Amino acid sequence: MAMHRQVALLLALILLLATGDGSLAVGTPSAIITRTCAAVGGQVGYDSCAGALSADPAAAAAKDARQLAVVATNLTVANVTSTVLVLDDLVKNLRACLRYYRDMNKTLKGALGDLRAGRLEAASDKLLDASHAPSDCDILLFEGRAEKNPMSKENTHAAWLSRLAYAIASSQALNPRHRRQV
Ligand SMILES: *[C@@H]1O[C@H](CO)[C@@H](O)[C@H](O)[C@H]1NC(C)=O
Ligand SMILES: *[C@@H]1O[C@H](CO)[C@@H](O)[C@H](O)[C@H]1NC(C)=O
Ligand SMILES: *[C@@H]1O[C@H](CO)[C@@H](O)[C@H](O)[C@H]1NC(C)=O
Repeated sequence: MAMHRQVALLLALILLLATGDGSLAVGTPSAIITRTCAAVGGQVGYDSCAGALSADPAAAAAKDARQLAVVATNLTVANVTSTVLVLDDLVKNLRACLRYYRDMNKTLKGALGDLRAGRLEAASDKLLDASHAPSDCDILLFEGRAEKNPMSKENTHAAWLSRLAYAIASSQALNPRHRRQV
């Protein structure tokens, strides 16, 4: 029993030291940060305010609320810059996806013409070609600097449907007995 209590005490001490260390590492907010964040905490949350400002060396050196406003504005500028880069990248890649899909649609139209005319092999070739567009779009967005893929669901679905069409057409193309039935 005595052993257990000692172990528990030791654990409590370690926990205390660990949390003590943690809060020191984050940086204790200066008096002006504490006061300013207390004043605006109702609108933006005290903890978020103190967290964002105390992480910035310029805020730690600030003498008054006006300087903290400059720091917060600077942080916003940095964030806007990064958001604009993300948007630029996303717009560029989405435009490319739009081209892939418009081309895919044209190819599908050609495949339909081939299918109706009984040209199964030509239709298969076109359907295989068309089936690459959704994954091309997906890869582009996946590898993009924005690291966002708003088209994942659509790409997956279009890829599956086009593979389905290709699979059926190509199985018929390989089977001359069925050619006349299409
Ligand atoms: C705000 O940003 C400007 C330009 O980057 C810099 O010169 C200035 O020192 C920054 N001020 C503070 C308080 O962070
Ligand atoms: C800044 O913007 C990026 C997105 O561009 C976001 O992920 C990040 O959390 C933002 N940082 C802050 C401190 O608001
Ligand atoms: C795709 O092609 C069909 C005709 O084959 C057409 O009705 C449709 O509007 C086209 N869609 C796009 C986005 O071009």
